[in-house]
Amino acid sequence: MQSLFDKRVLLVTGKGGVGKTSVAAALAIAAARVGRRVLLTELDAEPGRQSSLAGVFGLRELPAKRREIGEGVYGEMVRARTGHEIFLSRILKVRPLIRAALASKSLSRFLEAAPSFTEMGVYSHVIDLAVREKKGELENELVVIDMPATGHMIGIAELPELLISLLESGPVVRGLSAVREFVADPDKVAACVVTLPEQLPISEAGELAAELQQRGVPIGAILVNRWRRFPFDEEQWAALKSLENAGELAGMHRARGARDSEAALQRLSVRTHAPLYRFDDTALTRAEVARHIADQIPAGDGPSGALQEGDS
Ligand SMILES: Nc1ncnc2c1ncn2[C@@H]1O[C@H](COP(=O)(O)OP(=O)(O)O)[C@@H](O)[C@H]1O
Ligand SMILES: [Mg+2]
Repeated sequence: MQSLFDKRVLLVTGKGGVGKTSVAAALAIAAARVGRRVLLTELDAEPGRQSSLAGVFGLRELPAKRREIGEGVYGEMVRARTGHEIFLSRILKVRPLIRAALASKSLSRFLEAAPSFTEMGVYSHVIDLAVREKKGELENELVVIDMPATGHMIGIAELPELLISLLESGPVVRGLSAVREFVADPDKVAACVVTLPEQLPISEAGELAAELQQRGVPIGAILVNRWRRFPFDEEQWAALKSLENAGELAGMHRARGARDSEAALQRLSVRTHAPLYRFDDTALTRAEVARHIADQIPAGDGPSGALQEGDS
């Protein structure tokens, strides 16, 4: 799992309610524990609105400017407006040019495509978080992003392409091409697909992973949250199966679900070429869950941790 922490950006994605926010926070905490300068952020935050990601660190929302939010983890709220400024100033460098650009035809076409303009601002801010330097050093070695709904994630992956097709050539397109290359680089960016160990979420995670891969976003890991150990050994299971016709054993049906989903998870891992990690289901409160998950991420290389692939 440490190899995930050598990337530059982790996109934590999955269906709502599977534990994206908890897992994103846990990944950031675990990365900080092994000495990474890590920044945690989310894409659909609005100033003033309560953020459950910030809540993990006892905050109402992430700070507008980068600062430590707890446990060695830094936070900064991503905003489209900041992104627009960053984008233009990075690409055009000189103020009069920025003004000229804002007056130009191709840029107004850009602005007219309003929804993608917002997304492109978000995108630029995120990329800036990943490449920003201070005194010749990366300010954030790793950026962990709690992604919003699945559909939005895919929109983000497609954005550079869309914008390039909207614009003619020039510095803006060259800037976007660089962004596109960054996102498709498996050494730099990885999507972490979070799922629950149940049939429907697993199949949805599979669809999401396939769509991401189609759009050139590398899959770094399948993270199975709220996992429960299959409670029977083979002998016990055989004995229980022989009782199946005799009565309705609710617990047994649940256990079979766990067993079936195990096979589906293995298939998903093979299909996406992504390793599988499991985080157990706990009875802890919301605020404690992220730390509990972070505790299950081994702090070194090599085989360690009770919940790695193959241990079921
Ligand atoms: N491993 C876990 N064990 C127990 N509860 C969990 C676990 N992971 C997440 N939860 C709980 O599930 C709910 C949804 O988690 P959250 O991280 O907000 O998911 P998402 O961001 O995908 O909507 C929260 O109440 C959270 O505390
Ligand atoms: Mg969430």
